[in-house]
Amino acid sequence: MKVLSVVGARPQLVKLAPIAAAFAGTDHQHVIVHTGQHYDADLSDVFFSGLGIPDPDVHLGVGSGSHGVQTGAVLAAMDKVLEDERPDWVLVYGDTNSTVAGALSAVKLHYKVAHLEAGLRSFNRRMPEEHNRVLTDHCADLLLAPTEEAVRHLGNEGLAERTRLAGDVMVDICLRIRDAVLAGEHPAPALPEGIDPEQPFLLATLHRPDNTDDPARLAAIVESLAALPVPVALLAHPRLVARAEEHGIKLEQGAVRVGRPLPYAGLVAAVMASAGVVTDSGGLQKETFLLGRACTTIRPETEWVETLEGGWNVLVPDPHEMDVEEWAKLATRPAPTTEQGTPYGDGTAAQCVVKLMEEALAAQA
Ligand code: UD1
Repeated sequence: MKVLSVVGARPQLVKLAPIAAAFAGTDHQHVIVHTGQHYDADLSDVFFSGLGIPDPDVHLGVGSGSHGVQTGAVLAAMDKVLEDERPDWVLVYGDTNSTVAGALSAVKLHYKVAHLEAGLRSFNRRMPEEHNRVLTDHCADLLLAPTEEAVRHLGNEGLAERTRLAGDVMVDICLRIRDAVLAGEHPAPALPEGIDPEQPFLLATLHRPDNTDDPARLAAIVESLAALPVPVALLAHPRLVARAEEHGIKLEQGAVRVGRPLPYAGLVAAVMASAGVVTDSGGLQKETFLLGRACTTIRPETEWVETLEGGWNVLVPDPHEMDVEEWAKLATRPAPTTEQGTPYGDGTAAQCVVKLMEEALAAQA
């Protein structure tokens, strides 16, 4: 079996790590295509080196652009790659512009598409990711759902026949790296200057267009972080840095200390060292849950609804509209003591993905 993985953005590289490792233990051929959607070393190279992922076989170098420009550039470049490689499967990951472009280019040329992390829904049509995931699910041949909830969503959309419960590959990698961090196999993370890892601090990230692109909203969210009673280590995504600069918003104010995005092991170690996380990232909500810390999510909804059970994750769409003390109490609350269960699987999802792809290919033969 020949599988061509299309990846391009940071969260996809994290998911690629366990998938590449699972294929490495088989006779299957695994080809990695990097679209180049993310190109800064902080968002791309450090994941390949840090997680032991083989270098990409093909690099499309599309870079940044508006949605149409970025998606279109991947589409245009993929035809030749598919013609050259002729894979049995094109495997696409998550919900970025690289995902939908990879899927669409493949189905148009009659290549089979498998979608990893299928069936997630926010039902928020303002999110570019929501369109990417719905369109990708509806054109893919094999829908690899991470959770029972995702299986239900796909069933509701008439896609049950193509759906398989695979578990979440994020668990595979997150727990593996957690254990390595606990075993002292990674250096201490490069936290922003002014953060003492021995003292309580909150870890924060912010990159969703709905939070970063409106100057008034971004300024209000940063003020809410600045008003917190413990230091806030803000790992600033380039989109956040670019928008803050554009709008003349100072990120480093009050409790906020600004640093660069961390490599994966650094991020896991930072979550473990923190008193809790404030974020709008999908992946980080789940990583915080898996690592047993409280998460506060600056969004009106989440795709990862399982994290909300027992108060591990709490949604706060507008922190600046809350009473300052209530907000501080919520963001600094201790981690719950309630049982979490294993809604995202047991850390063997990547092997399950390989098996499901083998089975689906055999069934078509
Ligand atoms: C993308 C995904 C989002 C995912 C996120 C993870 C889409 C629509 N969005 O958002 O789902 O959660 O990745 O990080 O696909 N930039 C750099 N260097 C880089 C990459 C980006 O400076 O290496 C800056 C550029 O100013 C760019 C902006 O960040 O315009 C946004 O990048 P883009 O890839 O369009 O979307 P993300 O916000 O990263």
